Amino acid sequence: MLLNKLKSNAKKIDLFVKKYINHQKKSLLKTPMNYGVLSGGKKIRSSIILATGKLYKLKSKKLLNVCGAVECIHSYSLIHDDLPCMDNDKLRRGKPTTHIKFGESTAVLAGNSLLTLAFEMISDKNYKIKNTQKVILIKKLAECSGHTGIAGGQELDLKYEKKRKKFNEIINMQRKKTGKLFSFCCFAAGQIAGKSKDENNQLIRTGEDIGLLFQLADDFLDVKGKSKYTGKSVNKDKKKGKSTIINLVGYDYAYDYANKLKKKILRNLEKHGKKANELKDIINFILERKY
Ligand code: IPE
Ligand code: IPE
Ligand code: MG
Ligand code: MG
Ligand code: MG
Repeated sequence: MLLNKLKSNAKKIDLFVKKYINHQKKSLLKTPMNYGVLSGGKKIRSSIILATGKLYKLKSKKLLNVCGAVECIHSYSLIHDDLPCMDNDKLRRGKPTTHIKFGESTAVLAGNSLLTLAFEMISDKNYKIKNTQKVILIKKLAECSGHTGIAGGQELDLKYEKKRKKFNEIINMQRKKTGKLFSFCCFAAGQIAGKSKDENNQLIRTGEDIGLLFQLADDFLDVKGKSKYTGKSVNKDKKKGKSTIINLVGYDYAYDYANKLKKKILRNLEKHGKKANELKDIINFILERKY
């Protein structure tokens, strides 16, 4: 069953990250870093990396460092997203946010350190893939995280607050803040499997679509979800005047758009036959999830 698979993947990646941080030298930031990255979370991006790997019969061992890296970057982005200067949230994964628990400056620094830890994980000498592949992965991950990816998208998200933005402007913002990291997830599996440029470009597009679907679903959960399942406060987007598709065109139209996007993603995976079943299950889960 998919939920069990997601849970066991999350456990595996948590263990990898925990050991990785544990083996590093002592520092004051280790505890807040562990708190930010290990205290819950679906680790859905890791499951997407592993499920994309299954399209090409890749062993999960070859993907662990990439999964760990992506989860570190994702958690860094959440720690910063929750800061008072951004979304100002107090609850994350059912617990106090990192800055509530440890203070703002510590949260900023723990976030920065998780971002850089990601690149340590991929460049690690114990990670047995070719150095040329590591360089390609590091470059792509940097692009997807910085001003052309998460950070750039987050800047737009904040600048768009209380403004009336066009449909495509909102979609493009969401593709950056959330889509790009998912596009890296799919790309990384294809890259490690040694797929062609064309195939990898297709994975990049599919991954970005999955990320957009994921963000749309996150926005739905803010309206219709329950805090006890999502582990974060709900009904916050409207209060903050966030430019979401729901706030622009209403829930039903937004859901219809997301459902069409989901079908398009599933169609694009058909060529992989049964090997895509796990990835397809995850995509269906993304839109219907309660957490
Ligand atoms: C929440 O991401 C933030 C978005 C990019 C929408 P997740 O829903 O993946 O958060 P966790 O890791 O499971 O807590
Ligand atoms: C966060 O989007 C996107 C990131 C890249 C961090 P949200 O601000 O909607 O995420 P939540 O709802 O706080 O998890
Ligand atoms: Mg935000
Ligand atoms: Mg937020
Ligand atoms: Mg949200």
